[in-house]
Amino acid sequence: MWVMRQAGRYLPEYRAVREKAGSFLKLCYNPELACEVTLQPLRRYDFDAAILFSDILVVPQAMGLALDFKEGEGPILQTVSSSTDVAKLRSSGSFTEFEKVWETVGLAKSQLDADTTLIGFCGAPWTVVSYMIEGGSSDRKRALAVAMEQPSWYGALIDKVVECSIVYLLGQIRAGAETVQIFDSWAGDLPPVWLQRLVVEPVKRIVDGVRAVHTNFPIIVFARGVGEQHASIAGGTSANAIGVEEDCKLSDVLPTLPSSVAVQGNLAPGLLLGDRDGLRRGVAAVLNGVPMGRHIFNLGHGITPQVNPEMVSELVKAVRDFDSGHL
Ligand code: CP3
Repeated sequence: MWVMRQAGRYLPEYRAVREKAGSFLKLCYNPELACEVTLQPLRRYDFDAAILFSDILVVPQAMGLALDFKEGEGPILQTVSSSTDVAKLRSSGSFTEFEKVWETVGLAKSQLDADTTLIGFCGAPWTVVSYMIEGGSSDRKRALAVAMEQPSWYGALIDKVVECSIVYLLGQIRAGAETVQIFDSWAGDLPPVWLQRLVVEPVKRIVDGVRAVHTNFPIIVFARGVGEQHASIAGGTSANAIGVEEDCKLSDVLPTLPSSVAVQGNLAPGLLLGDRDGLRRGVAAVLNGVPMGRHIFNLGHGITPQVNPEMVSELVKAVRDFDSGHL
């Protein structure tokens, strides 16, 4: 069990460290402080895993695009809109930004006990490239149009993002990450006929790049919002586990997957804003739908800043109570 965005603004100790770092990005590139916030949720909660504190937009920034996070506005990223822009992007050599993140992984690994899994991550090409084309969290209409019209630079851009993501993940694994999650947060925007080209193929290239160095390395793919298409994502990417959004039933998804593949998810994050009984009922509903041996408990999406940290204690308690037959 772990929770997406478990290190984040709902925790007062996170807000204090971010304040000390000066900004979200300064925190990402400060290994000591980033390690501290990676470990914070483990001090409070009986989670089974820590996720590296960083961001998926570290990759485009390392490739040379200016990045800023404005308070309350989310990311603002320099955009790419031509083959000249793509040609300027770095995709090899050494990346200072990555080095800092890898150092965080190494520090976190050295401080975690052996039973706690350290999870690394990157964004999937579709999601990352949508930020590079749009410049922030928008409706992805422009990115969709570019993908559809397929100008020659779209393929070249994907190739570079794939290449850098492999470097980024291999460095995290070298530094101690024991599994990695590939986040395709915007996969659900795409019509199913496009998933193969825009999601499955580029993610599979990252999976293959990682496993070319670390055979059978365990990988979680979270193509958020693809609903009935989770089976084709699992088959096409050869992921070991598939993240599932909250509006899908795990008991519907699981039988469509190869028997060696697990599901991850998928409690609605909104239940953490309600009362304890509703939360416990929600947890029981998730856990009743799926055998423990093929399930990683998580939310269906990231935890929101408004959540009371006490409710996360209740969440962990509910999951552990279910395990011991008390829910
Ligand atoms: O899960 C974790 O605890 C690990 C750290 C992590 C962050 N971002 C920290 C973060 C991870 C795994 C991510 C992934 C990420 N980043 C995704 C994919 C997952 C998803 O949420 O769909 C995406 C799309 C991003 C890009 C991004 N980063 C956005 C759109 C935002 C702004 C939205 C927001 O929540 O404010 C961020 C900022 C961000 N990344 C924060 C954190 C803790 C909040 C920054 C802050 O402290 O102000």
